[in-house]
Amino acid sequence: MGATIVIGGFFGDEGKGKIISYLAQKDDPTIVVRGGAGPNAGHTIKDGDKTFKVRMLPSGFLNKNSRVMIGPGVVVNPDVFLKEINDFGTDGRSFLDNNCGIIEKHHLEDDSKGRLKEKIGSTGSGTGPANAERAMRTLKMAKEIDSLQKYIIDVPLEINNALDRNENILIEGTQGTHLSLWHGTYPFVTTKDVTASGICADVGIGPKRIDDVIVVFKSYLTRVGTGPMAGELSAEETSQKGWEEFGTVTGRLRRAAEFDFELASRAIMLSSANQISITKLDVRFPDCAGAQSLDELGADAKSFIKNIEDKLGVKVTLIGTGAGVNDIIDLRT
Ligand code: IMP
Ligand code: MG
Repeated sequence: MGATIVIGGFFGDEGKGKIISYLAQKDDPTIVVRGGAGPNAGHTIKDGDKTFKVRMLPSGFLNKNSRVMIGPGVVVNPDVFLKEINDFGTDGRSFLDNNCGIIEKHHLEDDSKGRLKEKIGSTGSGTGPANAERAMRTLKMAKEIDSLQKYIIDVPLEINNALDRNENILIEGTQGTHLSLWHGTYPFVTTKDVTASGICADVGIGPKRIDDVIVVFKSYLTRVGTGPMAGELSAEETSQKGWEEFGTVTGRLRRAAEFDFELASRAIMLSSANQISITKLDVRFPDCAGAQSLDELGADAKSFIKNIEDKLGVKVTLIGTGAGVNDIIDLRT
């Protein structure tokens, strides 16, 4: 299987965390490595009756055999990083790169007020101001922070060596394609490129070493923060459809709309995705809840999936049918 990368195809919150935690258990990668912007991304993972909200560590940490790593392109809040290692019990197998940038108190303050908060609707996590400082070359790096020393590793070297040994590597993207600083709805975007290429650069792997690019789309569209979203539903319509969601990091009510084929098609193009994952099919079609095979899907759900494959020309290989890690239909061969 080599290197598999999972990215978001819409505006983030596609349900990547659940897909990644499933792949981390099923494919048993030796390393799960996270790219993306920083702790502005929240992934929610459910394991049995336990719910984990992850902002800094890769969502693949549930597999106790996997080492989890954060690539040098990601800015790290040391408090969040250390707290998650403690809360999730992953000390000894959690690492970050020497060159991860560091979020400090003043970045959090700058991100929680003024233009970033009001116009862009930033998450207030300090990610944007830290990335801005990185571009100015004044940002502190992980290697300068005492409390992080024992977690530091050369992430690009580790993952490329693992691939040389024919191990499986899972690369975890954050946010979604249309929040990309280069390709998204600028200025209503995050502060990094979050397409597959950007995530590869974040963790230090070249494009020829990627075997599979899985783009994740939710069965409907949501967006938090400001910025354009065609066909946006009113709060009332959203709640009638049962598509009401609240942000993992910010708790904000997410804006919602129908599945958007134009956005999906562009996401596939930008990341050369060869597999599609559709999440939360059970929210659209409650009769699908917990299904683990195509046979268990009702006619409407089946034709929804078929229509996506026909219109987008890429195979749907993973279908999420509930919040649990194993509520999934896995059609990969
Ligand atoms: P920032 O990345 O915190 O600066 O926020 C910029 C924009 O990206 C805002 O609209 C945020 O709501 C959005 N955003 C950033 N990270 C995520 C994410 O992981 N999921 C969804 N939206 C995000
Ligand atoms: Mg999220």
